[in-house]
Amino acid sequence: ELSPIDKAKFVAAKRAAEFVEDGMRVGLGTGSTAAWLVRCLGEMVREDGLKIRGVPTSTRTADLARDVGIEVISLDEAKWLDLTIDGADEFDSNLSLIKGGGGALLQEKIVATASDQMIVIADAAKEVEHLGSFPLPVEVIPFGWQTTQALIEETMVSMDVMGRQTSLRMNGDRAFVTDEGNHILDLHLGRIGNPRQMAMVLNQIPGVVENGLFIDICDQVVIGYGDGRVEVRD
Ligand code: A5P
Repeated sequence: ELSPIDKAKFVAAKRAAEFVEDGMRVGLGTGSTAAWLVRCLGEMVREDGLKIRGVPTSTRTADLARDVGIEVISLDEAKWLDLTIDGADEFDSNLSLIKGGGGALLQEKIVATASDQMIVIADAAKEVEHLGSFPLPVEVIPFGWQTTQALIEETMVSMDVMGRQTSLRMNGDRAFVTDEGNHILDLHLGRIGNPRQMAMVLNQIPGVVENGLFIDICDQVVIGYGDGRVEVRD
């Protein structure tokens, strides 16, 4: 028996899996909700003979996809994707997202951008009026990361945000390391007044590889509820 939150994630994933068709190249997201999707697709491959090739957005997802029987290829082998399905940490009414809570935002953004369509699967608690309660993940290269952090904090002074504290993401007593060998700074902004501007400004800073704001990338959000209801937003 699933907890309400797992049920919400599962029903969203299950509904989104219905958008996947034979022959598609599918971007496979990262996180607990995306893991449900990968398991659903695996079942469709094994039991219904669904024929797809999957491009994972993390080593974690690649391992899971292979385990459940999905053929895994690289993005460069796929070249372009029909559909990417991924989770999110927050989404707003414009379908702008914060992603990267799981640390995979760089591959996730590259894969989603290289797709005809991106569908986000989320439990209802991820919907927000204004992005920013969830700390915004920013991937930075290890070289000079403290200088990059200082520059980010300085830049936040002129931005429309409530807070501007930043913290280095940790993994135990060491800095968290992404699949690309980088670090993550989490920006505690409280409320991001202008997400589009924020995304652009952050990526102008040397040392910043990518930020977790997804603007004009997501086409649809499939929202799951704890009682099993599903709602599609576009
Ligand atoms: C991974 O890097 C993130 O972008 C995830 O998509 C996000 O953290 C959602 O994860 P959950 O589905 O576990 O909430």
